[in-house]
Amino acid sequence: MKFTIPTPLRQEHEALHGTLRNAAALQGEVGDAAKTLARLMHPHFVKEDETALPPLGLLGALARGEFADEMAEVLALTDRLEADLPTMLEEHAAIVAALQRLRAAAERADRAEIVAFADELIQHARTEEEVMYPAAILVGRQVRLLAQRARAGGAP
Ligand SMILES: [Fe+2]
Ligand SMILES: [Fe+2]
Repeated sequence: MKFTIPTPLRQEHEALHGTLRNAAALQGEVGDAAKTLARLMHPHFVKEDETALPPLGLLGALARGEFADEMAEVLALTDRLEADLPTMLEEHAAIVAALQRLRAAAERADRAEIVAFADELIQHARTEEEVMYPAAILVGRQVRLLAQRARAGGAP
Protein backbone atom coordinates (compact mmCIF):
# COMPACT_ATOMS: atom_id res chain seq x y z
CA MET A 1 0.00 0.00 0.00
CA LYS A 2 1.27 3.46 -0.83
CA PHE A 3 1.15 6.05 1.94
CA THR A 4 0.87 9.59 0.66
CA ILE A 5 2.05 12.65 2.55
CA PRO A 6 -0.93 15.03 3.04
CA THR A 7 -0.70 17.67 0.31
CA PRO A 8 -0.32 20.76 2.56
CA LEU A 9 2.60 19.13 4.36
CA ARG A 10 4.26 18.13 1.11
CA GLN A 11 3.82 21.64 -0.26
CA GLU A 12 5.20 23.18 2.91
CA HIS A 13 8.34 21.04 2.63
CA GLU A 14 8.75 21.94 -1.03
CA ALA A 15 8.34 25.66 -0.29
CA LEU A 16 10.88 25.58 2.55
CA HIS A 17 13.31 23.65 0.39
CA GLY A 18 12.90 26.12 -2.47
CA THR A 19 13.55 29.16 -0.26
CA LEU A 20 16.59 27.48 1.26
CA ARG A 21 17.97 26.68 -2.19
CA ASN A 22 17.65 30.35 -3.19
CA ALA A 23 19.30 31.53 0.04
CA ALA A 24 22.17 29.07 -0.46
CA ALA A 25 22.81 30.61 -3.88
CA LEU A 26 23.53 34.01 -2.29
CA GLN A 27 27.07 35.33 -1.85
CA GLY A 28 28.71 36.18 1.44
CA GLU A 29 27.84 35.41 5.04
CA VAL A 30 24.14 34.75 4.42
CA GLY A 31 24.84 32.37 1.54
CA ASP A 32 27.49 30.53 3.55
CA ALA A 33 25.16 30.09 6.53
CA ALA A 34 22.39 28.90 4.19
CA LYS A 35 24.72 26.37 2.53
CA THR A 36 25.71 24.95 5.93
CA LEU A 37 22.04 24.70 6.85
CA ALA A 38 21.16 23.04 3.54
CA ARG A 39 23.80 20.35 4.11
CA LEU A 40 22.24 19.54 7.49
CA MET A 41 18.68 19.71 6.24
CA HIS A 42 18.87 17.63 3.11
CA PRO A 43 19.27 14.13 4.65
CA HIS A 44 16.78 15.08 7.37
CA PHE A 45 14.15 16.16 4.83
CA VAL A 46 14.63 12.95 2.84
CA LYS A 47 14.10 10.87 5.96
CA GLU A 48 10.95 12.82 6.84
CA ASP A 49 9.55 12.46 3.36
CA GLU A 50 10.20 8.70 3.44
CA THR A 51 9.37 7.78 7.03
CA ALA A 52 7.83 10.44 9.28
CA LEU A 53 5.23 12.09 7.04
CA PRO A 54 3.69 9.35 4.84
CA PRO A 55 1.92 7.66 7.83
CA LEU A 56 -0.02 10.91 8.30
CA GLY A 57 -1.80 10.06 5.05
CA LEU A 58 -3.82 7.51 7.08
CA LEU A 59 -5.07 10.02 9.67
CA GLY A 60 -8.31 10.83 7.84
CA ALA A 61 -9.26 7.17 7.27
CA LEU A 62 -8.39 6.18 10.85
CA ALA A 63 -10.36 9.10 12.27
CA ARG A 64 -13.36 7.91 10.22
CA GLY A 65 -12.97 4.47 11.80
CA GLU A 66 -11.83 2.80 8.57
CA PHE A 67 -9.37 -0.07 8.56
CA ALA A 68 -7.91 -2.35 5.90
CA ASP A 69 -5.37 -5.14 6.47
CA GLU A 70 -2.88 -3.56 4.09
CA MET A 71 -2.66 -0.51 6.37
CA ALA A 72 -0.43 -2.69 8.58
CA GLU A 73 2.36 -2.04 6.05
CA VAL A 74 2.65 1.40 7.64
CA LEU A 75 4.18 -0.25 10.71
CA ALA A 76 7.47 -0.60 8.83
CA LEU A 77 7.55 3.22 8.65
CA THR A 78 6.24 4.07 12.10
CA ASP A 79 8.51 1.52 13.83
CA ARG A 80 11.47 3.04 12.02
CA LEU A 81 10.32 6.54 13.02
CA GLU A 82 9.99 5.54 16.66
CA ALA A 83 13.46 3.99 16.69
CA ASP A 84 14.93 6.98 14.88
CA LEU A 85 13.13 9.65 16.90
CA PRO A 86 16.03 10.57 19.23
CA THR A 87 18.27 11.06 16.17
CA MET A 88 15.60 13.13 14.42
CA LEU A 89 15.35 15.38 17.49
CA GLU A 90 19.14 15.75 17.61
CA GLU A 91 19.06 16.72 13.94
CA HIS A 92 16.44 19.35 14.74
CA ALA A 93 18.67 20.80 17.46
CA ALA A 94 21.58 21.06 14.98
CA ILE A 95 19.27 22.54 12.33
CA VAL A 96 17.84 25.14 14.75
CA ALA A 97 21.38 26.15 15.79
CA ALA A 98 22.31 26.60 12.11
CA LEU A 99 19.07 28.52 11.57
CA GLN A 100 19.93 30.90 14.37
CA ARG A 101 23.29 31.59 12.72
CA LEU A 102 21.53 32.15 9.38
CA ARG A 103 19.00 34.44 11.05
CA ALA A 104 21.75 36.54 12.66
CA ALA A 105 23.64 36.81 9.35
CA ALA A 106 20.43 37.79 7.54
CA GLU A 107 19.74 40.48 10.13
CA ARG A 108 23.21 41.96 9.66
CA ALA A 109 22.69 41.91 5.88
CA ASP A 110 19.22 43.45 6.15
CA ARG A 111 17.58 40.46 4.47
CA ALA A 112 14.20 40.57 6.22
CA GLU A 113 12.77 37.79 4.02
CA ILE A 114 15.52 35.41 5.14
CA VAL A 115 14.99 36.35 8.79
CA ALA A 116 11.31 35.49 8.26
CA PHE A 117 12.26 32.21 6.56
CA ALA A 118 14.49 31.24 9.51
CA ASP A 119 11.65 31.95 11.94
CA GLU A 120 9.26 29.92 9.80
CA LEU A 121 11.61 26.93 9.67
CA ILE A 122 12.18 27.02 13.45
CA GLN A 123 8.40 26.96 13.86
CA HIS A 124 8.19 24.10 11.35
CA ALA A 125 10.62 22.02 13.43
CA ARG A 126 8.58 22.66 16.58
CA THR A 127 5.35 21.68 14.84
CA GLU A 128 6.97 18.44 13.75
CA GLU A 129 8.23 17.67 17.23
CA GLU A 130 4.98 18.50 18.98
CA VAL A 131 2.40 17.42 16.39
CA MET A 132 3.59 15.57 13.27
CA TYR A 133 6.00 13.03 14.77
CA PRO A 134 3.70 12.10 17.67
CA ALA A 135 0.74 11.88 15.25
CA ALA A 136 2.69 9.54 12.96
CA ILE A 137 3.65 7.37 15.94
CA LEU A 138 0.01 7.26 17.06
CA VAL A 139 -1.01 6.19 13.55
CA GLY A 140 1.31 3.21 14.04
CA ARG A 141 -0.10 2.39 17.48
CA GLN A 142 -3.69 2.60 16.24
CA VAL A 143 -2.99 0.48 13.16
CA ARG A 144 -1.24 -2.16 15.31
CA LEU A 145 -4.24 -2.28 17.62
CA LEU A 146 -6.75 -2.55 14.78
CA ALA A 147 -4.66 -5.22 13.03
CA GLN A 148 -4.55 -7.29 16.24
CA ARG A 149 -8.28 -6.90 16.64
CA ALA A 150 -8.90 -7.94 13.03
CA ARG A 151 -6.69 -11.02 13.49
CA ALA A 152 -8.63 -11.94 16.62
CA GLY A 153 -11.68 -11.85 14.36
CA GLY A 154 -13.74 -9.89 16.81
CA ALA A 155 -13.75 -12.86 19.20
CA PRO A 156 -14.80 -11.89 22.72
FE1 LIG B 1 10.36 19.04 7.95
FE1 LIG C 1 12.21 18.13 10.58
